[in-house]
Amino acid sequence: MCGIVGYIGTQKASPILINGLIRLEYRGYDSAGISTIEKYGISIMKDKGRVKNLYNINGIEQLEGNIGIAHTRWATHGKPSKENSHPHMDNSKTFSVVHNGIIENYNELKKFLSDNGYHFYSQTDTEIIPNLVHYYYSKDNNNDDLKFLRAFKNACNKLIGSFAIEIICKDYPNNMLVVRKDSPLVIGKGENENYISSDIPAILSFTRNFYLLNDFEFVLLSRTDAKFYDKNLEPINKNTQTIEWNTASAEKEGFEDYMLKEIFEQPNAIRETIGAKFNENSKCEFDELNFSKDFLSDFNKIFIIGCGTAMHAGLAGKNAIEKLCKINTEVDIASEFRYRAPLVNEHTLCIFISQSGETADTIAALKLCKEKGAKTIAISNVIGSSITREADYSIYTHAGPEIAVASTKAYTSQVVLLVILAIYFAEILEINTNELSLLKKEILKLPKKIEDTLDLSSRIRDFSKTVYQEKDIFFLGRGIDETVAKEGSLKLKEISYIHSESYAAGELKHGPIALIENGVTVVGIMTDPKLVEKTISNLQEVITRGAKTFVITNQQVDNSMFDFIVYIPETSPFISPILSIIPLQLFSYYISKEKGLDVDKPRNLAKSVTVE
Ligand code: AGP
Ligand code: GLU
Repeated sequence: MCGIVGYIGTQKASPILINGLIRLEYRGYDSAGISTIEKYGISIMKDKGRVKNLYNINGIEQLEGNIGIAHTRWATHGKPSKENSHPHMDNSKTFSVVHNGIIENYNELKKFLSDNGYHFYSQTDTEIIPNLVHYYYSKDNNNDDLKFLRAFKNACNKLIGSFAIEIICKDYPNNMLVVRKDSPLVIGKGENENYISSDIPAILSFTRNFYLLNDFEFVLLSRTDAKFYDKNLEPINKNTQTIEWNTASAEKEGFEDYMLKEIFEQPNAIRETIGAKFNENSKCEFDELNFSKDFLSDFNKIFIIGCGTAMHAGLAGKNAIEKLCKINTEVDIASEFRYRAPLVNEHTLCIFISQSGETADTIAALKLCKEKGAKTIAISNVIGSSITREADYSIYTHAGPEIAVASTKAYTSQVVLLVILAIYFAEILEINTNELSLLKKEILKLPKKIEDTLDLSSRIRDFSKTVYQEKDIFFLGRGIDETVAKEGSLKLKEISYIHSESYAAGELKHGPIALIENGVTVVGIMTDPKLVEKTISNLQEVITRGAKTFVITNQQVDNSMFDFIVYIPETSPFISPILSIIPLQLFSYYISKEKGLDVDKPRNLAKSVTVE
């Protein structure tokens, strides 16, 4: 995980670096550090804790250097401590390095370096990198302009695992080197300056022109230039891409937290994601896909793969694809999929969902499917992210940058995009066409209906105040509502630290009902008219055992038996998760606030999980 920032230009680097780290802090926040090239050599300032702790380090405001690297850590190797914080230097203090990812063969490399007289002062895997670079550097007698780059390349070619690395060298005070493999890194190009970052929003206020890096592309940066090289140091050409995102959408804009802002951005995120893909009278179109009937008819199976919330969106996708297109569809957790010998071949279509597009498990599952000959589609919120560069086809949610660790607007955008994709497939396959035009009308009404659902916010806040001290909360639903129960439960766990479980409502009596006792809160979601009575019966079973119930529905039900009920607008069951999740997002949010927790940066989590 972690966030990386770099700057090389004519301005003082340290404020730019710290500012960038603050924006990247959602990626990891157990320690932070910066390293700049000063007149006297390389400086390192780092400490345990949040990025803002850097301001307490003596002398940080006196840094003058205009080249620097910076890191906010999410520890994988070695506990959060000052010693383990990045940047790390080699023994001779020639190089300073920040690293995002895991060096899987670090034990072997550490032994090799120890045998060659190197010492280690941290428990990190990262510390081997500057020392390995030094090892190759000291062996190279050719003191030309590329000596630093050669040593770095030789060291990186020995690394196994995932990495995004920035390195500076005291002998090359006008350069910086970067490389990535399976970890995100972008270069922002300015006038006589270059910015480096783990993600685009962190440096969007400085530039809109970005170089997107592929694995094992080495970049030699100077103030005015960015030179690119392949694994063998053969020069390569690269062009910048212009990013259209609006900077304001990466700021809080008056909301107390990013999560609340992102919950309220959902009408627009859905509007943007629907975009111009269809209107009431036209067929769905995906410029990026352009599939034919023959092409689609060749698939006898679809897999939808993702992690966490993205996987939950996949469940709504399965519901739509199976019902509308009659193609057998399975949803898998990426980390399980890759190790369970999945039955994938050239007649399989695999859809990968990842908001960030950088989730290591999802990328690995994608690579596996490609090896097995499947066709692959990536769904991401980040243009140019790793999954979109690996997949055969990429389509995008247009939710705008999502900063809060707990995903909200990305989830609802993924659901709508998957349902539109299912309609697109069904139209090509020429099935269910009557049902499709009604569904399309309902999709177009979503932004307004989301706005109406958001009006429930203050009622949900008041109810949250009555349950925030609970120890366990259960979420129940049937069919499409069960998928929302899963996502609601995940949201609550993530940001309130309350233990929660989600179940198919009919499954409760097969075991979990033993946990229901007086006063336990049970949330019931019931939006599918065909299943609502069944879920009511299951809720009745928990009420009989003393449970307190919170119901989310769009049906006219007898509300006298429930403790708290919210009515959301009626819509097609295919897209009902987009509305029914909103009260649950707000519920988790207000419970977390009531408990005084950091909503945007929950403990132990990071926004982008770039390690296995
Ligand atoms: C969402 O609230 C979670 N933080 C998490 O489950 C997340 O959805 C998951 O890690 C996948 O992330 P991605 O969409 O960036 O791949
Ligand atoms: N593996 C490195 C460490 O534990 C980097 C972790 C990160 O990506 O933050 O220090």
